[in-house]
Amino acid sequence: MTSGRAVTFAHANIALAKYWGKRDVANNVPAVPSLSVTLEGMRTSTTLELDESLSSDTFELNGVSAPKEALARAVTLLDRVRREAASSSFARVSSRNDFPTASGLASSASGFAALALAAVNAYGLGWSVERTSDLARRSSASAARSLFGGFVELGNELPSSGVLGAAQVAPVEQLDVHVLVCVTSEGQKAIASTDGMGRTAQESPYYAAWVERAPVMFRELKAALLTKDLERVGDLTEASALAMHASAFAAGVVYVTGATLDAMTRVRELRASGLAAWATMDAGPHVKVLVSRADSATVKAAMERVPGVLRVLEAKPGAGATVIEGGA
Ligand code: PMV
Repeated sequence: MTSGRAVTFAHANIALAKYWGKRDVANNVPAVPSLSVTLEGMRTSTTLELDESLSSDTFELNGVSAPKEALARAVTLLDRVRREAASSSFARVSSRNDFPTASGLASSASGFAALALAAVNAYGLGWSVERTSDLARRSSASAARSLFGGFVELGNELPSSGVLGAAQVAPVEQLDVHVLVCVTSEGQKAIASTDGMGRTAQESPYYAAWVERAPVMFRELKAALLTKDLERVGDLTEASALAMHASAFAAGVVYVTGATLDAMTRVRELRASGLAAWATMDAGPHVKVLVSRADSATVKAAMERVPGVLRVLEAKPGAGATVIEGGA
C-alpha cells in the first residue's frame, strides 16, 4: 500500500576494508568487496512525500535547495523506484544531516540509505532490506552498507537475481571500539569518489595490484573481526586505506593534505606508545581513527592537539537505517 509519506533515519559508515573501483560501471558494482562499521553519531534524516501537484521532484538539503548534481542523483534513484512501483507521482524530499555536510564527510552513504528507505516506503514497494540496500548501492556503493547496523560487508559480484545488497557481518557489540573523525578541512572534497576511482582504474599502474590484493585484505579483516582480534582488524584497516590511496596516488588522484599526513603520523606514534589506534582515510582529507573504547579519550585529546586538525567528532558503532514514520 502506498502511504505517500515516509520519514527515515540512516547513519554514516566508515569502510575498514575499502571499496575503490567499479567492476561494472552501468550497474555500479564494486571491483572489490568492502567491510564497514556503521556510526551512531552521524545521522541523516529524510522526509519524503508524494505530491500530485508537483511536476518534478524537489530536494531540500539542510533547509536549502540541494545543489543541481545532488538533485540529479536523487531523481535517478526516484525514477528507479517509480518504474518499479508503476507510479508517476513526483516527490518532495527533505534531508538533514546532524553532522557537517560541507566538509566532505561521508554524507552520501547515510544520505542515499535514508533516501532509498524513504522512497521504498512512500511508494509502497514493501521491499526487503537487502533489496533496499541494492537500490542504495546503485546510487552510491557505500550507501548499501548504511542500511545495516554494526559491521557490514558488501560483495563485488552481481548475482543472477540482479540484487546485490550489503549484509551484516557482526553486531554493534562485536568490537568495543569508537571512531574518531578528525576534520582537517571545511571545504568540499576536490575529486568526487566516482571520478577518483575511474581515473585510478584507467591511469594507475598499481590499480591491478589493488584489485588483486583488496579481496585478500577483506577476507583477513572479516576473519579477524569474527574472532574479535582488534589488533589485526586495526592493522588491516590502516593497510587497506594505505593500499587504496597508493593506487590512487599513482594516477595523480591525491586526497591527502599535509594535515592528513600529520594526523596519520600522530596515530602511528600513539600506537607505538601502546595505545590501540589505527588511521583510515576516504575520498577526502579527513583522518578517521579506529580506537579501542578504553583509549578513545586519550587518543581524542591527542588528536585535537595536532596542528591542522580542526575538530574531532566521536562516534560509536550504530544501528542500521530505520523507518520512523510511514512504514508499510
Ligand atoms: O560510495 P562511494 O561511491 O562514494 O565511494 C566510497 C569510497 C570510499 O569511501 C573511499 C571507500 C568505501 O568503501 O566507503
